[in-house]
Amino acid sequence: MAERSADGNVGVRPVRERTTPVAAARIRPLRQRTEENHVNVPAPAAVIVLAAGAGTRMKSRIPKVLHPICGRSLVLHALEAARGTSPAQLVAVVRHERERVVDHLAEHAPDVLIADQDEVPGTGRAVQCGLDRVSADSGTVLVTYGDVPLLDSETLGALVAEHEATASAVTVLTARVPDPTGYGRILREESTGEVVGIVEQKDADESQRAIDEVNSGIYAFDLAVLRDALAQVTTDNAQGEMYLTDVLAIARSGGGAVRALVTDDAMLVEGANDRVQLAQLGGEMRRRLLEKHMRAGVTIVDPATTWIDAEVSIGQDTVIQPGVQLLGATSIGEEARIGPDTTLEDTEVDEGASVVRTHALLAEIGPGASVGPFTYLRPGTVLGARGKIGGFCETKNVQIGEGAKVPHLSYVGDAEIGEGTNIGAATIFANYDGVDKHRTSVGKHVRVGSDNVIIAPVTIGDGAVTGGGTTVRGDVPPGALAVNDTSLKIVEGWTSRRRAGTAADEAARAAAKRDNAPGSSSADGKEQEN
Ligand code: UD1
Ligand code: CA
Repeated sequence: MAERSADGNVGVRPVRERTTPVAAARIRPLRQRTEENHVNVPAPAAVIVLAAGAGTRMKSRIPKVLHPICGRSLVLHALEAARGTSPAQLVAVVRHERERVVDHLAEHAPDVLIADQDEVPGTGRAVQCGLDRVSADSGTVLVTYGDVPLLDSETLGALVAEHEATASAVTVLTARVPDPTGYGRILREESTGEVVGIVEQKDADESQRAIDEVNSGIYAFDLAVLRDALAQVTTDNAQGEMYLTDVLAIARSGGGAVRALVTDDAMLVEGANDRVQLAQLGGEMRRRLLEKHMRAGVTIVDPATTWIDAEVSIGQDTVIQPGVQLLGATSIGEEARIGPDTTLEDTEVDEGASVVRTHALLAEIGPGASVGPFTYLRPGTVLGARGKIGGFCETKNVQIGEGAKVPHLSYVGDAEIGEGTNIGAATIFANYDGVDKHRTSVGKHVRVGSDNVIIAPVTIGDGAVTGGGTTVRGDVPPGALAVNDTSLKIVEGWTSRRRAGTAADEAARAAAKRDNAPGSSSADGKEQEN
């Protein structure tokens, strides 16, 4: 269980005094997340993530919280931030498109408890439904939204720390924004600056609407106070909803302390309501991820053309050239060189490897190996240490041994290739007979000639050799040479008879004249060296 450090520091900048008399904490968020993204704070009893809303402004058949940015759905970003506080329970409240959201969570976040919101609308009801899944009777409960992707564990941790250090009933995360339209406004007592409640845009009068401190919708609650207060929340408001925001005034009138933690980084608490905001938040997350990698020792030559998904890991001193997309669960080792113009999805690149102008999906590239340029690695490609898949090659479901090479213009599918083997240029592994796929096994230290067609199923033994242009229709034993028994037929003078008067004919005649001239090597009957 996470614990507060001795000085109460939770990894964010120390609290700064606001100008109001009440010491509302200000935080400087967006520091580096730790390796594991876990923050060192007392573990909350639960985090409840609200994800029941319809998200109509997305104009999408896909539920809003399932739209991705940086390779991960909005709700998974929210859950990841929540998980970083090590809560005893993690609850997602669902209703709209319930099945799709629940299926997504079952696949990607099976530890999350699902709470169904009933037909009573509002954030207050949503939290009440979420609390049905919370087994604790006391402690801190965090509430966050499933559509606020930039929120991080550091900020949630700071909220918990502030909340517990001040023994508050409610601590709300707030931000001052240039345009507060649409948000709930934070009401403070004029003389003391104490937070007294939140008023929704639709219920606010003109002077309240002028307040620029807004409710992020992210809170730390004392669990017992929250249960109690929610029982008193009504739907008596402009929207006929149970407002979670009403809990603040109720808690305060019950004698509880209500406080705000003001973030300097309004982006952290912004939700994606439509596709414009989705792109803006995606862009901001992307910028932050690039910065995180650069600060951790990765050279990104051109951040403007580099896209790195949230789950990607990159080792120190790796250089990312322009035009690179690292997607999904891609991981890159140290001192690798990626790009330019490369897309790697769910692909592993080990230390010191070089991957140039390549498109790869579900591939593994071994240490010191080299790939590209103009290369397409399909799922199941595993390239051994110091191996090579060179220019204009396509590979699929193939294990290529240590130091083995497929250097030029080849297709290799459904095969294993032993260590030290070389596959000649323009070789095709014909794995598909039009009905079924078949496997090819090529042993160690084999030399496959250029322009071979290897018609699977075939086994080529260790140390075997195939001639240039061979069609390998059967097994080749270890150490054997395989060549096709088609001999080269020469028809002298064919061009002058069948293509008379063409440029080719003229060239051939000129060559014959040259060769027959005195002093020419052919005229001397000597063999020319080449
Ligand atoms: C809410 C806050 C407002 C705050 C704003 C920040 C209330 C009453 N108001 O506004 O003070 O400034 O968030 O964005 O809380 N949800 C449910 N079930 C519901 C309704 C909403 O799960 O019945 C979820 C939504 O999926 C969403 C979140 O709660 O993730 C916020 O809902 P939304 O309708 O956007 O909140 P607002 O009423 O706009
Ligand atoms: Ca809203």
